[in-house]
Amino acid sequence: MGDENILSLQKQRNYMTRQEIDSLRRELHQHNHNYYVLNSPTISDFEFDAKMRQLQDLESRYPEFYDPLSPTQRVGSDITTSFNQVTHQYPMLSLANTYSEGEVSDFYQRVQKALNEDFELVCELKYDGTSISLIYENGLLQRAVTRGDGVKGDDVTANVKTIRSIPLQLHGDFPSKFEIRGEILMPWAVFDEINKEREAQEEPLFANPRNAGSGTLKLQNSAVVASRKLDSFLYSVLGENLPFTTHFDSLLAASSWGFKISDAIRVCKSLDEVFDFIRVWDEERKNLPVATDGIVIKVNQFSQQKMLGFTAKSPRWAIAYKYQAEKAVTRLNSVSYQVGRTGAVTPVANLDPVLLSGTTVKRASLHNADIIASLDLHIGDMVYVEKGGEIIPKITAVAVDQRFMIGDKVQFIKKCPECGSELIRYEGEAAHYCPNENACPPQIKGRIEHFVNRKAMNIDGLGGETINLLYENGLLKNIADIYTLKVPDLARLERLGPKSAQNIKISCEKSKEVPFERVIFALGIRFAGETVAKKLAHAFRDIESLEHAEYEALVQVDEIGDRIAQSVIRYFADENNREIISRLKSYGLQMSLSEDELLQKSDKLADKVVVISGTFRYYSRDEYKKMIEQHGGKNAGSVSSKTSFILAGENMGPEKLKKAESLGIQLLNEDEFLKLIQKEKEGGNIQMGTLF
Ligand code: IVH
Repeated sequence: MGDENILSLQKQRNYMTRQEIDSLRRELHQHNHNYYVLNSPTISDFEFDAKMRQLQDLESRYPEFYDPLSPTQRVGSDITTSFNQVTHQYPMLSLANTYSEGEVSDFYQRVQKALNEDFELVCELKYDGTSISLIYENGLLQRAVTRGDGVKGDDVTANVKTIRSIPLQLHGDFPSKFEIRGEILMPWAVFDEINKEREAQEEPLFANPRNAGSGTLKLQNSAVVASRKLDSFLYSVLGENLPFTTHFDSLLAASSWGFKISDAIRVCKSLDEVFDFIRVWDEERKNLPVATDGIVIKVNQFSQQKMLGFTAKSPRWAIAYKYQAEKAVTRLNSVSYQVGRTGAVTPVANLDPVLLSGTTVKRASLHNADIIASLDLHIGDMVYVEKGGEIIPKITAVAVDQRFMIGDKVQFIKKCPECGSELIRYEGEAAHYCPNENACPPQIKGRIEHFVNRKAMNIDGLGGETINLLYENGLLKNIADIYTLKVPDLARLERLGPKSAQNIKISCEKSKEVPFERVIFALGIRFAGETVAKKLAHAFRDIESLEHAEYEALVQVDEIGDRIAQSVIRYFADENNREIISRLKSYGLQMSLSEDELLQKSDKLADKVVVISGTFRYYSRDEYKKMIEQHGGKNAGSVSSKTSFILAGENMGPEKLKKAESLGIQLLNEDEFLKLIQKEKEGGNIQMGTLF
């Protein structure tokens, strides 16, 4: 076959692949819309995942068909970005709040008087999330900006692109340029799941889905944002010469373009209809998957909105009615103090049981010493307990008028309730800590629980109760003792038969293969979560180097700041910890990076076939070949349809260049290539999409 025929066959094959990719993309866009916007999926998750994998596979084999709008791009990237500030075209104002039907009635009369003509109101739910402004041009999402100070906000486009209910590409008859605003929300179910994980890791809990959602939106790593499954509701379309005259019609249109618009919207012609909506949704909203904290009432006609205008802070054509947070009054019987793995002491109020939002509340968090002092709490006080968007009820005030006999003033304890050590408070922190790390029972038990956790050493069979039992029986005093547990000793314990004892032992043995980075995480060094542990493992490579690392070397590592560096130094300064580590090492745990981990710096070039051509300034060809392999890629001698990209130096061979052009294969110069692999090594900031 002649060269021309090969080329035309190639073109044909490329064309068919393109068709297949396009069709999968269209199909997956539709399924995303059905699932996330319409809430009515038409295929199973399994089928969806299979199609997604098929598309991912094709896209990685044919990087020339890269498209930032592909459904695969929703997974987010691990690029670190800091946010650019963007000025809003129209300032993002807030709404005036009202708390009673009387105030809503005042609003109605003000509007009536100012307009002096018939008008309609639209009632909507007030979603309790983070407001967002989305800019679309020619049907494509261009930019997503947070409210910020109302004038300027943060450009969080990369993170917002991971939210499945926000269309990257619109369908139907949309204006060529417009802005749409709405709320980003973390569903209750996701919020509960994240907090459960955080509790297990003794990380501070998110107080409510709003905080969790807005925190997520500001994460630097959009792959983590994608995993948090945020949702959205849009409620306001803005722009020049829009093709509708009422707010309600604009929402209907936005829904037809692919946006998630709530069904809980009603056009009201009278104040009574507004009150109906308020009352119905005060109950119904409790069944929604996301948090709401009131309703928003807006004048429907845009021309009438224009007539009414704005005050300095808010529109005169809209108002928010906020639902009362559910409250109850009950008696404070005592305050107890819990000590966690890190030694942090949490005060908890013990209450007379009281019914609140359908559940019986007996305990409420008091957070820290400052909150106790500001409440001026006394034992026996009648206190207000509230459960707003929060999962853990909180005490908001004392019913001073119901204080007949004054009990003892609640004073934050000075000594650890578990071991009697004097508590300390670190500068700038609200919490008190017990410093007796090596002898305070809940701290020891907590550290052991953390060590065996699935994400750390993953030792099965050692749950909280078993650890407690082993600790009480003197068989387990620290994490190293885990490896000297004997099957007969274990089997002798209540509730543990020989089979479970044997399984624990097997699991302990297996944990010796757990890689170094997870061993560091398992040690429970304060502030060293999974990501930090990974960074430390790769920066220092073995435990001795980490142990002797100086402050300057630690803060050089990406994402390690003063607080973590100090904590690592404090950890290794403790002789007890050093002894535990040397025992762990003697039992055969992984205390350095493996050969493979040392060689393989990343898998960023996995499945990539790279052709090197030309002469280079910084490294030799052989060195580049090695780098490609170390990052999981393959070297190839000649350009073909399988080539992912060409690492092109000076004076690249003309034949190769011609072939690359005809196949549409991308050329990377030395700088681009080095940046690409350095990004992987140090979490830098270039986007794969721009290169492939
Ligand atoms: S309309 C001029 N509609 O409430 C502001 N806002 O204080 C017009 N919100 O910042 C906003 N649900 O984040 C509107 N259905 C809804 C809303 C809503 C929640 C938030 C929004 C805004 C805040 C107002």
